[in-house]
Amino acid sequence: MNAMTTINFAHRGASGYCPENTMSAFVKAVELGATGIETDVQRTKDGVLVLIHDESLQRTTGLTALVKDITYEQLSALDAGSWFHSDFSGETIPTLEQLLSFGREHGLILNLELKNGLVQYEGMEAEVLKLVSEYGLNDKVVISSFNHYSLALCKKLAPDISTGVLYMEGLYRPWDYARTLGADALHAIFYAVLPEWVEEAREAGVVYHPFTVNEPRDLERMLKAGVAGIITDYPDRLHTLLNKGMV
Ligand code: G3P
Ligand code: MG
Repeated sequence: MNAMTTINFAHRGASGYCPENTMSAFVKAVELGATGIETDVQRTKDGVLVLIHDESLQRTTGLTALVKDITYEQLSALDAGSWFHSDFSGETIPTLEQLLSFGREHGLILNLELKNGLVQYEGMEAEVLKLVSEYGLNDKVVISSFNHYSLALCKKLAPDISTGVLYMEGLYRPWDYARTLGADALHAIFYAVLPEWVEEAREAGVVYHPFTVNEPRDLERMLKAGVAGIITDYPDRLHTLLNKGMV
């Protein structure tokens, strides 16, 4: 595989430099050469799909509440930037629609991680897929999740939208498992990816998008293994290696 085609997924945006899952982080990712964005999808009490990693608002906004328990109006008034640095004071939690619009404008691949594990957001899969389709982005999105029932449902609802299986374990022949879900990609913790598996998976029709790869030596190792995309907090580091023709 030509490394220049390797998708450079900025994890929660360029979260090494900006508060995660904010528009600043997404804009910075593009500036640093990302060709994709990974983000985390949750839902407010009144049904708005928003981008935040934790189920709780505590860490990134200071509010002791769960996303699912407050309205979008309440959530949109929160400061999601100051926890990272005062330069980002007033940064808000974006909606999924904001990112879909931004991704379409910049031709990005969007890796939408459904955070429906600890909190079960019933019907979230259909809602996300509907929006993706309305924005004309079916061929630009990969839906990922640690909730593999969600992935199977997504594939049933929208067979033309890619899905990626998130996992942390050293699974045996994970590409075989992925196919049972109809999934297209393996979103594996990077140290559980052996180079010889990457080709075997590809032969089975499944590609690897390892996470979260930040150190140059690990980025190089994944590129040499021939993965189809890499999820990183530092898209500039990966961009540099890709520009060098690092394979
Ligand atoms: O998609 C990779 C990664 O985002 C999964 O873990 O906890 O950072 O959402 P987490
Ligand atoms: Mg994530």
